[in-house]
Amino acid sequence: MHVLILGGTTEARRLAELLAADHVPGLRVTNSLAGRVAAPRLPPGEVRVGGFGGADGLAAWLREHEVDALIDATHPFAGRISFNAARAAATAHVPLLALRRPGWVPVAGDDWREADSLEEAAQLLPGLGRRVFLTTGRMGLAAFADLTDLWFLVRSVDAPEPPHPPRMEVLLDRGPFTLDGERELLRRHRVDVVVTKDSGGAATAPKLTAAREAGVPVVVVRRPPAPAGVRVVAEPEQALAWLATRMSFPSAG
Ligand SMILES: NC(=O)c1ccc[n+]([C@@H]2O[C@H](COP(=O)([O-])OP(=O)(O)OC[C@H]3O[C@@H](n4cnc5c(N)ncnc54)[C@H](OP(=O)(O)O)[C@@H]3O)[C@@H](O)[C@H]2O)c1
Repeated sequence: MHVLILGGTTEARRLAELLAADHVPGLRVTNSLAGRVAAPRLPPGEVRVGGFGGADGLAAWLREHEVDALIDATHPFAGRISFNAARAAATAHVPLLALRRPGWVPVAGDDWREADSLEEAAQLLPGLGRRVFLTTGRMGLAAFADLTDLWFLVRSVDAPEPPHPPRMEVLLDRGPFTLDGERELLRRHRVDVVVTKDSGGAATAPKLTAAREAGVPVVVVRRPPAPAGVRVVAEPEQALAWLATRMSFPSAG
């Protein structure tokens, strides 16, 4: 029994941990990472790193390694790999489940502006503030490079490379983040606008609460489309139950 988890998220790692804790005899789990982060947090089980070579490459990998179930637990903004997974699973006749955390929902007091892309988010910024807390990761900073009048606090796991905004400070860190920490960050850097992707999940949500409390607007970049017709669950435990039912191991009950 071989399960391939397309990972790079907290949920993917959690699912691998649940599977490891179950000690199912004969179960092989391979975690796949893209290789974007220099020192990723590694899940238990086998780990492979790097692209497959598109949907056809992934389909070939599924066949060659006799994969019985595919879990797409990639980040909601990793749009390409999810479409590849859907195509490859259909080609190789492997059951596919998407494990994707739900998006964030605004609550009373939030001042959110939605954007369809990083470029659109950049266009909104001059009308909203001067000191930007940019939490969209190190990729895609080029979209903000022309905003020479604004100052940016850029938080990312690895250091960004140019092109990026000329006036910026980089904060190398990775979640989970605390509400106290986010409050302090906004205060210390006199942040007057926050930019985030709609990543969802609890680990990076405290910045939204801190922004609401401080009356700071948040530009929220909407998620890219996900493939239609793929079953989606939100929690690693649900993915475990799906696997258990399909592969008849004890967690099903
Ligand atoms: N985008 C984000 O904001 C974000 C945030 C946190 C974590 N991540 C994680 O970082 C990875 C890359 O994100 P992305 O936005 O660059 O993805 P993407 O645009 O959907 O993927 C680009 C290419 O990277 C390869 N790839 C992506 N995820 C892979 C995986 N788990 N295992 C093996 N190959 C993978 C695939 O190459 P081939 O076509 O050659 O197979 C894919 O076509 C994802 O695994 C995702 O879970 C992304």
